Amino acid sequence: MKKKYSLPEWQVTDESVFQQRRDVVKALVVAGLLPASVLQAKGTLKDELTPEAAVTSYNNFYEFGYGKNDPAKNARDFKTHPWQVRVSGLCEKSGVFDLDDLLKGLAVEERIYRFRCVEAWSMVIPWLGVPLAALLKRFRPLSSARFVRFTTLYDPKQMPGQRRRVLDWPYVEGLRMDEAMHPLSFMATGLYGKPLPPQNGAPLRLVVPWKYGFKNIKSIVRIHFQEDMPMNTWRKMAPDEYGFYANVNPQVDHPRWSQASERIIGTGFSLFGNRRDTEMFNGYAEQVAGLYRGMNLRKFF
Ligand code: MTE
Repeated sequence: MKKKYSLPEWQVTDESVFQQRRDVVKALVVAGLLPASVLQAKGTLKDELTPEAAVTSYNNFYEFGYGKNDPAKNARDFKTHPWQVRVSGLCEKSGVFDLDDLLKGLAVEERIYRFRCVEAWSMVIPWLGVPLAALLKRFRPLSSARFVRFTTLYDPKQMPGQRRRVLDWPYVEGLRMDEAMHPLSFMATGLYGKPLPPQNGAPLRLVVPWKYGFKNIKSIVRIHFQEDMPMNTWRKMAPDEYGFYANVNPQVDHPRWSQASERIIGTGFSLFGNRRDTEMFNGYAEQVAGLYRGMNLRKFF
């Protein structure tokens, strides 16, 4: 299947080739033959895939702890099969479905997407999964459904982080229906050609590449169609810091830090700091800016 909405292959260089090329560039910089700025210049060095080890060991999944390395350790025995998803609200086909049945007949695709956390770090991840629209259409949402809400499993026995009220559990996120039905919106079931590791949100997690990472809710057990805008977990925690839309926007800073640039995770040794400029809508403006035409993106952050 052609990965229409992935980064084109020429933009993503193979890890080892990339590293070699980068080393050569670095050597030239060190030798004074090239200006240091080329190491940061956008377009000079292409996006590289984040090494799998970094994708699966540097995580945010508060249900399994609050340190970046905690989820990989604490989610090891997380039971993700069998898995059921409850579908409710404004749709024709609500009910409780076995995940295997839900995914049956949907073509699995690979999508290589940039990933930008609100904490100003980023990755490039090869996901496996299905277009979110294809999954949602199965439930025949009514035209009165303007939003869709997703909920993570609540199970403090398995999820030690839920034993403390650091967040208002269970974790909830939502999208406007037109955002959810956009061809870039994706429901991931795997990464790097394998099933999702528990720390990355197995067995089912949202991927909306033009939004900050916290919209990408993990280990989903409920999908609910509704008329009004759902309250999402981080907005409830700190409404001045996290909005509903959470579109990546280098011009609108987080109250406590700048969003103008980002730290590239997993790029190893860095002479000049592995940073890059953050792009509007995380580089997907061409595809998604139309969803927000006329909207004040400072107000609706
Ligand atoms: N989903 C749940 N249920 N709990 C979480 O703590 N963290 C979010 C998001 N989804 C989170 C979640 C945040 S802040 C980010 S940046 C991404 O997951 C991290 O995804 P990754 O660990 O797969 O990179």
